[in-house]
Amino acid sequence: MDTNRLSKKIEDILNAQVTKEAEAAQIYLSYGCWADSKGYGGIANYFFRHSGEERNHMMKVMQYIMERGGEVKISAIKAPPKSPKNLQDCFEKTFQHEVDNTTAIYEIVNLAHDEKDWATYNFAQWFVKEQIEEEKLVMDLLDKLKIAGGPKASDESLFNLDKYLGEAPDEVPLAREASVDKPE
Ligand code: FEO
Repeated sequence: MDTNRLSKKIEDILNAQVTKEAEAAQIYLSYGCWADSKGYGGIANYFFRHSGEERNHMMKVMQYIMERGGEVKISAIKAPPKSPKNLQDCFEKTFQHEVDNTTAIYEIVNLAHDEKDWATYNFAQWFVKEQIEEEKLVMDLLDKLKIAGGPKASDESLFNLDKYLGEAPDEVPLAREASVDKPE
């Protein structure tokens, strides 16, 4: 008896997502190493922590495939892209990675909707919410860098930004969580 509750297409797209999350973990590891080599220990720490989050995302998708009786396939992952040119480039590329990942999540949602696979549709909603948070986290990085002076940031403001990011929370307050009693 076949107990796999995932269609072939859903299983394939979820396995592709496992690979994407693993690739994101590697990309952020490489950005962390690059930041450390430039003397930004706090920013390096930020990317290393975030790399761990991407790995957790990978595990979450794997666990779902297994729970539904599917088979996880671990594929080769691409090498991370070249080192960023500077912090602005690093944060902009990070934002683009997150936007691309959001697009991939939406493709899962679209397919689950087309197939009326409501379990996968429901599962993917966690990632839809998570991507709002992930994108916001990087938007905040870009805002902080802009306030520090962007490409003309002084060493002192970059020092303070680095210190701040080394200690920054991994989650951001979101508008959807806000209420009259708790605006943030
Ligand atoms: Fe797994 Fe940054 O999204």
